[in-house]
Amino acid sequence: MIAAKRELHGRRVGRPLRHRGLQAVQELLPRLRVPLTASAPLDPLTLFDHPVREVWLEIGSGDGMHAVWQAAQNPDIGYIAVEPFVNGMASLVAAAFEQGLQNIRVLDDDVRLLLEQLAPGSIDRAFVLFPDPWPKRRHWRRRIVNTQVLDQLGRLMPQGSELRVATDVQDYLVWMLRVLRRHPDFDWSPACADDWRVRPDDWPGTRFETKGLEAGRHSTYLSLQRRHMSDFA
Ligand SMILES: C[S@@+](CC[C@H](N)C(=O)[O-])C[C@H]1O[C@@H](n2cnc3c(N)ncnc32)[C@H](O)[C@@H]1O
Repeated sequence: MIAAKRELHGRRVGRPLRHRGLQAVQELLPRLRVPLTASAPLDPLTLFDHPVREVWLEIGSGDGMHAVWQAAQNPDIGYIAVEPFVNGMASLVAAAFEQGLQNIRVLDDDVRLLLEQLAPGSIDRAFVLFPDPWPKRRHWRRRIVNTQVLDQLGRLMPQGSELRVATDVQDYLVWMLRVLRRHPDFDWSPACADDWRVRPDDWPGTRFETKGLEAGRHSTYLSLQRRHMSDFA
């Protein structure tokens, strides 16, 4: 049973897909897609043909370059990339296939539908990189960094696991910090300014980050820890 409501506001289709993209969507995507019909909580470790140590989740993976990089660098990790925009998903699955990656699964739909199905404590790292900023005030409720999504991530992520969030939109950064710092499940304790100004080596750039840099925007990289409830003061 799927109880979460699909809530997609951005575009799902872009330019018509050409040969590589079309083949990716028609032949590869069905093989990699996470099934959403499970009646019991879904243990994501079971989605992968080869044993994986833990499972990481990327929300809004865009053209998939971050996801593909992480999956290639961490073959013992199972990686789930969620992206409803079909052209982005086509790039991701084509690149994963070309690189022979066995440890990647995808969902081309609203991440909320997956979050509610995953078993508690089953996601060891999560990424929300350059989410859609929805700059108009009347659209703020569409922002994916919100209390309900954090509640779900808090349920799914074990103590000490990492949530990585990035944006280059100052207004959204203020929003994120307010929502994240108020949330009891996540702790953001940077040691120095470089912790949020400098992207770590194991965190590759993304397409939207590059576009922002070219437009003169600066990115902020937040690395949060899933805290133990008793840590919450
Ligand atoms: C601004 S793009 C950033 C893409 C990529 N992370 C990057 O940095 O290049 C935000 C992405 O989030 C996706 N997105 C929006 N709502 C989503 C949802 N409910 N579930 C999953 N992805 C979503 C959009 O389709 C879009 O591709």
